[in-house]
Amino acid sequence: MAEELILDAQLTKAEKYRQLLPQIEALTTGEPDLVANLANTMGALKQAFGFFWVGAYLVKDNELVLGPFQGPIACTRIRHGKGVCGASWAQAKTLLVPDVEQFPGHIACSSDSKSEIVVPVLKDNQVVMVLDVDSNQLNDFDQDDQRYLEELAQLMAQWFV
Ligand code: SME
Repeated sequence: MAEELILDAQLTKAEKYRQLLPQIEALTTGEPDLVANLANTMGALKQAFGFFWVGAYLVKDNELVLGPFQGPIACTRIRHGKGVCGASWAQAKTLLVPDVEQFPGHIACSSDSKSEIVVPVLKDNQVVMVLDVDSNQLNDFDQDDQRYLEELAQLMAQWFV
């Protein structure tokens, strides 16, 4: 497919996700390289939604290690159970955090980050990665983000062999 996204500005957030997800699928189908696919996915999410920070943390040797992302530089390694990302990994479930200051143990990579959603990617019932999206606004994520980012996580799971 052409390396250009179709993004209609007037759509609702849910409609934007519905427009974007098939394009991410088309962009990554047939490409076996995990980093290339993650890199384009983070670029596509940033381009579509203007997220403050969006990126992958990959499970490596019992830690989360920073992968492809868009946004300011971030923490490189996160321990199991630590911060929102480590908690999402430990619980193998999505965490929606409307105010990061209220989340015990939140890791502040940037003091501008105010709310966050973290979605685990599971392969064979094991978390292999978490997708982390941060906003510089409070309460910026909702059930629509959860639903469609979880759908995206199912696609991303296929990139892990
Ligand atoms: N805030 C995250 C750490 C990652 S960064 O914000 C990019 C956390 O608490 O897990």
